[in-house]
Amino acid sequence: SETGCLSVIVLGASGDLAKKKTFPALFNLYRQGFLPADEVHIFGYARTKISDEELRNRLHGYLIQEKNPSPQHSEDLSKFLQLIKYVSGSYDTEEGFKRLDKEISQHEILKNSSEGSSRRLFYLALPPSVYPPVCKMIRKCCMNKSDLGGWTRIVVEKPFGKDLESAENLSAQIGELFDEPQIYRIDHYLGKELVQNLLVLRFANRFFLPLWNRDNIDNVQIVFREDFGTEGRGGYFDEYGIIRDIIQNHLLQVLCLVAMEKPVSLKPEHIRDEKVKVLQSVLPIKDEEVVLGQYHGYRDDPTVPDLSNTPTFASVVLRIHNERWEGVPFILKAGKALNSRKAEIRVQFKDVPGDIFKSKKQGRNEFVIRLQPSEAMYMKLTVKQPGLEMSTVQSELDLSYRQRYQDVAIPEAYERLILDTIRGDQQHFVRRDELRAAWEIFTPLLHRIDNGEIKPIPYRPGSRGPAEADELQAKAGYVQTHGYIWIPPTL
Ligand code: BG6
Repeated sequence: SETGCLSVIVLGASGDLAKKKTFPALFNLYRQGFLPADEVHIFGYARTKISDEELRNRLHGYLIQEKNPSPQHSEDLSKFLQLIKYVSGSYDTEEGFKRLDKEISQHEILKNSSEGSSRRLFYLALPPSVYPPVCKMIRKCCMNKSDLGGWTRIVVEKPFGKDLESAENLSAQIGELFDEPQIYRIDHYLGKELVQNLLVLRFANRFFLPLWNRDNIDNVQIVFREDFGTEGRGGYFDEYGIIRDIIQNHLLQVLCLVAMEKPVSLKPEHIRDEKVKVLQSVLPIKDEEVVLGQYHGYRDDPTVPDLSNTPTFASVVLRIHNERWEGVPFILKAGKALNSRKAEIRVQFKDVPGDIFKSKKQGRNEFVIRLQPSEAMYMKLTVKQPGLEMSTVQSELDLSYRQRYQDVAIPEAYERLILDTIRGDQQHFVRRDELRAAWEIFTPLLHRIDNGEIKPIPYRPGSRGPAEADELQAKAGYVQTHGYIWIPPTL
């Protein structure tokens, strides 16, 4: 049943993810009317012994955000906070979870009128090491009351393991307790507007259909850059590194949507079937097609070991062995402490054969999807330089969202994804076989890095990263257009 009483349980309620992402997303959904107060209750669960009031006060600080919130905002916030109850307990004993179940059940009795329903969404804002015990406890003590109908779902977030073996191990443990339709593995890149748009763009436009293949496309880049380092998260980051943090999940998910064949329908399973096929077609990564970097100063973080070999930058070429993509390099690049913050997909087309504009080398056609910031799609193309001369110049067809959709507020990724978990739509979540295939691609490389067999090249914070990455990109076929910069239009 998709109506009636809904309980959202945030486990790890006092942690970073909960404060920064989960609760703000829940609050925004509440404000937009997706979490009606007469149906919904929110429970925070963690080990710290605090009162309801204390949790609410802490969250208040995070959710108020603006210095001068409007009266409406303040009122919404205090109403929202009243929906939250706190239960403290450990993650591996029944006692706390029994109390949690009691609280949830009580609220279900109170809120259920004649028809009744028991929908329970468990959001694990926790480190993966406690996923198995927590899942066991939920299974044992907190399942929805079947006489009322409804469901029990669990939401988990990366890191799902550190390599193929540990990930499979984790999947197996959770898989013994919950069926796949109950498990929502979040990759928040799948909640971004322009990532969700890829499916529409590719399969609803005649423009792209005949061009989207090895005959026309020379190379594809999927790039993530951040202009800050690992501040405050050095301890977590050093165990994982940039490939596990960004490339194996976020960028690889984007690659799937760029490269996959047309799904039979929009059903989540049909879409995910196609994504898995792409992943299974990726060839083993070659050492000479990898550049790793580590920014100067990274090891100064007291939580990072002095001799850390962890990459904070990586550029990796993936090759998809199928009829559509053979020979087209997909360059996945991600880095921290670089010169800018952005995420984008660049599809670069081949040169025009038999070029007649000999005077000047033409820039290549490039289709760019800017995921963030300043969401946009633009097509770089060559036009006649306006004026009396017959010369050419690089220009663009530009669909900038801020300009084109002025009155539309683009929702946060987590907002959208949490709503999907309530609605039971798994399209934008990672399936178990997808996760496995993703780890299969990167595990051999990751093991070699972990063993110190491949070393990151130092780079200056605030730079483009190691120059070797630009060389790799050029070798893979990417041609930079000199003297052209796209400038997001201002309003
Ligand atoms: C997270 C990574 O998954 O994504 C972080 O762990 C990274 O290291 C973040 O900063 C980036 O997300 P966004 O939405 O800001 O691009």
